[in-house]
Amino acid sequence: MSITFDKSTDIFQLNTKTTSYLIGIADGKYVGHIYYGKKLDNCQGGYALLRTEERPFVPSANMRDKAGFADGFPYEYSTAGVGDYRESCLSVRTPQGHRVCELAYLGYEIFDGKRELPGLPSTFEIVGAPAQTLEITCKDAALGLTAVQSYSVFEDSDAVVRSVRLINEGQQPLYIERALSACLDMDDESFEMLTLTGSWARERHITRCPVTYGKHAVSSVRGCSSHQEHPFAALVTPGTTQDAGEVYAMHFVYSGNFLALCQKSQHDSVRMVMGIHPEGFEWVLKPQDSFQTPEVVCVYSDQGLGKMTRTLHDLYRGHLIRSPYLHKKRPVLINNWEATYFDFDSDKLVEIAKDAREAGIEMLVMDDGWFGKRNLDDNSLGDWTVNEEKLPGGLPALVERVKAEGLSFGIWFEPEMVSPDSDLFRAHPDWAIQVPGRAPTQSRAQYVLDLSRPEVVDYVYGCVAKILRSADISYVKWDMNRQFTDLGSAFLPPERQGELPHRYILGVYELQERLVTEFPELLLENCAGGGGRFDPGMLYYSPQIWCSDDTDAVERLAIQEGTALLYPLSCMGAHVSACPNHIVGRGTPFETRGHVALGGTFGYELDITKLSAEEKEKVTKQIGLYHRYNHLIREGVYYRIASWRENHLYDCWEVAAEDGGEAAVTYVQVLASPNSRSRKIRLKGLDEKAVYRLEGTEKIFAGQMLMYGGVLIEPQEGDYVSQVLHFVRV
Ligand code: GLA
Repeated sequence: MSITFDKSTDIFQLNTKTTSYLIGIADGKYVGHIYYGKKLDNCQGGYALLRTEERPFVPSANMRDKAGFADGFPYEYSTAGVGDYRESCLSVRTPQGHRVCELAYLGYEIFDGKRELPGLPSTFEIVGAPAQTLEITCKDAALGLTAVQSYSVFEDSDAVVRSVRLINEGQQPLYIERALSACLDMDDESFEMLTLTGSWARERHITRCPVTYGKHAVSSVRGCSSHQEHPFAALVTPGTTQDAGEVYAMHFVYSGNFLALCQKSQHDSVRMVMGIHPEGFEWVLKPQDSFQTPEVVCVYSDQGLGKMTRTLHDLYRGHLIRSPYLHKKRPVLINNWEATYFDFDSDKLVEIAKDAREAGIEMLVMDDGWFGKRNLDDNSLGDWTVNEEKLPGGLPALVERVKAEGLSFGIWFEPEMVSPDSDLFRAHPDWAIQVPGRAPTQSRAQYVLDLSRPEVVDYVYGCVAKILRSADISYVKWDMNRQFTDLGSAFLPPERQGELPHRYILGVYELQERLVTEFPELLLENCAGGGGRFDPGMLYYSPQIWCSDDTDAVERLAIQEGTALLYPLSCMGAHVSACPNHIVGRGTPFETRGHVALGGTFGYELDITKLSAEEKEKVTKQIGLYHRYNHLIREGVYYRIASWRENHLYDCWEVAAEDGGEAAVTYVQVLASPNSRSRKIRLKGLDEKAVYRLEGTEKIFAGQMLMYGGVLIEPQEGDYVSQVLHFVRV
């Protein structure tokens, strides 16, 4: 890792373990992108890639064609209004109503370490893996606006993380209409754009399309990062596979509205930008005020998607997730949502706890329906008082009973919401996000609380903390079940209404920061109607996030494949549920449901009291597998071997120990096919020189043979059948 500036060539060079990122200063004024790719020892001649020798020339030499220059220059941070007609990162309105901004290079600083981003989640250095940061300062003198573009690299990572700080050093307020976080201007290489898209209950499916002239975007204006489109985009060269091809990826460390856009220009250059979605966004920057954009993680891989995946997994495990649970085995939990929905009481929960303990489950999580008068989803959000009709003696009594059965206790909250039918809404209707004079749109019969308002943040925190202080609670599932409409805050003045979506997310971050500070031992799992706010921002607060409300083992294959493209398996909330599955009605073998859930955090979401003795035995067996493999799943190196989305027959992934000492391969035969032969699977990440035994058998394989020859998987009878093969070095 190193960051250098070569004065003689005006080039900054950021080196990660295997990549280099080069930035040049053209004409002493324009900060431009030169190169991102394989690590370079020598960047002589690189300056030419700024294309300053091409027509039209750099403006100081030729002001006549400045617009032509601006529309082709590879900017590190593009601005609107002076002739760059491509997607801009920064757009600023003056009190006079003008929208022109141009940043000129002022200076730089290179320092050891990395600054925190105030109020925002961000990557950090750790002992043994320090960071280095480059800050490039630019200014628009006419606006009095300074922009500090920050780039950090880490000793043990191939990622470059970026953000921008805007400071109003002028005399008048400025209105920031867009402030994206990162821009990457490159030449087109027939790129394809890879994104994650979906919907409720089918989140983060991998999507790929060619980049042609014009703009291609994924985004959210839903108030959260969303089920529908993920704050991630990658440009990949044609034919990129898990192991080959070039990948330029951006991933946003943010949980609210976002834009990730690729644009192919008239000159066959491609620009990729990422940041807070400009739609509905405006930030008032008073003199001396500053605005910090969230962070973007950039990854380049010359070895396909697999290397990108592993770079992100390692970065998030090493430099983003802070929870003390990160490297700990999480308790195997049982959640009562699909078991009972709202229809439960203490006795029912204790009954579940009893059978759960016998099977080896370690924690009971009480889901929605324990507070106010909530027996349906249309009331009581905001009234966080225990319903003593359901839970006589309140939480302390229930928690003690559950603990007496030998389980720890977890609880569900949806703190950011308010039901119209709640004491909170009756007392403070102005605490809900809405526009006076309009009947606000409801979704799941609820409104969103205005977390831009400090007293609301305090109220919400007070409610959650009071419950957590009242009993021995080890885990919280923090849910968020509706997206934004009717954006209006009774708290913010008219000119600051455009700040609401971002201030809301800052409120969410503040709440969770307070929570993990007061309750450092708490295991926090984020959730948003399933996986509607599964993003790197939330990982800063919780080591795991509920992946999807769809717990069907087959649907989960695509969801977990897409999620694991970016996220370590240790943060993907995954449970075994009952069949027929509550979302799709499909029946799958109990074993397969276990093998798929083992690819995530692992737990149960069913009424264990209704399982047969045989099924209960299977639960115990699965928990045995969890204890056997969890260290691998949590800490290991992930390889995607085959995708059922692509081949329509089978799915396969592997997790290998970092030193290649063992590997677990999960193989799911989704559909049986007639007259088929054994399928050959090649393993990855093993020790070539070692010899391995397939656990449970006497079979011995050379590491080289497994990696380059492969192992045969026999066809099984029936659909949706699965197996885990565990190879251990002998
Ligand atoms: C959301 C969650 C579910 C469950 C329900 C409760 O849909 O994703 O797991 O907690 O809310 O209302």
